[in-house]
Amino acid sequence: MARIIAGIGTSHTPAIGAAVDNGKTAEPYWAPLFKGYEPAKKWMADVKPDVVIMVYNDHVNAFDFKIIPTFAIGCADEYPIADEGWGPRPVPPVKGHPEMASHLVQSLVLDEFDITIVNEMQVDHGLTVPLTLLFGSPAAWPVRVIPLAVNVVQYPAPTGNRCYNLGKAIKKAVESWDEDVNVVIFGTGGMSHQIQGKRAGLINKDFDTRFLDGLTKDPVALTKIAPIEYLREAGNEAIELVMWLVMRGALGDGAEEIYRFYHVPASSTGVGNIIIETKDFHAQRAKKSAA
Ligand code: DHB
Ligand code: FE
Repeated sequence: MARIIAGIGTSHTPAIGAAVDNGKTAEPYWAPLFKGYEPAKKWMADVKPDVVIMVYNDHVNAFDFKIIPTFAIGCADEYPIADEGWGPRPVPPVKGHPEMASHLVQSLVLDEFDITIVNEMQVDHGLTVPLTLLFGSPAAWPVRVIPLAVNVVQYPAPTGNRCYNLGKAIKKAVESWDEDVNVVIFGTGGMSHQIQGKRAGLINKDFDTRFLDGLTKDPVALTKIAPIEYLREAGNEAIELVMWLVMRGALGDGAEEIYRFYHVPASSTGVGNIIIETKDFHAQRAKKSAA
């Protein structure tokens, strides 16, 4: 049986990818951010998952305003890196898992989530920056990735509650996949940020902290935050945080926070990172370290 062992919440701010690609990680502006991700990178290197489900949003690169699916799953063998205007990021192409992705689609659609099937797509910073932050800069990515794109770029985005329930259905779908593989699910984007308009640069640290706390203390309370509340409280693009609720829904009850990092600013965004292990995986790790 496949199992989800943990969830990662992380911002996907494109300037972070550019800082790595241009050798700026040691500069005073960036060094504290990359230092804050070191423990998460170590955790990932230690745990070595087989598959990553990357819940992210496309920023009008793979999809344009002609077609915007609410929930789309990538079923391709490989995903080329999108050119977002400055040339594609110099990172390896992303290897998919078409068989398992197709299984997820089948299970989710039969569970009444209307998933768009995507057999060909490029992936942008929403997916590649989290890979860089957690896996560093290897010659080839050490995991297979199933992209799950959520529309948060055009109104209406799905509610947090819908996203949380999708996460629960993903847990069920993963557990009905026969192969013995460990899966880590990412929720990306956020935290508070607004990149244009009169309120550009808005950061609401209290909102972000309450959100991080709620992921383990009371995720159901977070599902009651209305989409408009994310925008009002934490900036237009804070709506990306609904994707963290897909991740959280997939972890089940009793999940444990094991690492958290929060940093302002990166570009003009509030950057957050959290690692949450499922109850079973956490118990297994605790037993192993006690032995
Ligand atoms: C920016 C873009 C994003 O997609 C995001 O999540 C955060 C910041 C930006 O352009 O700065
Ligand atoms: Fe984004």
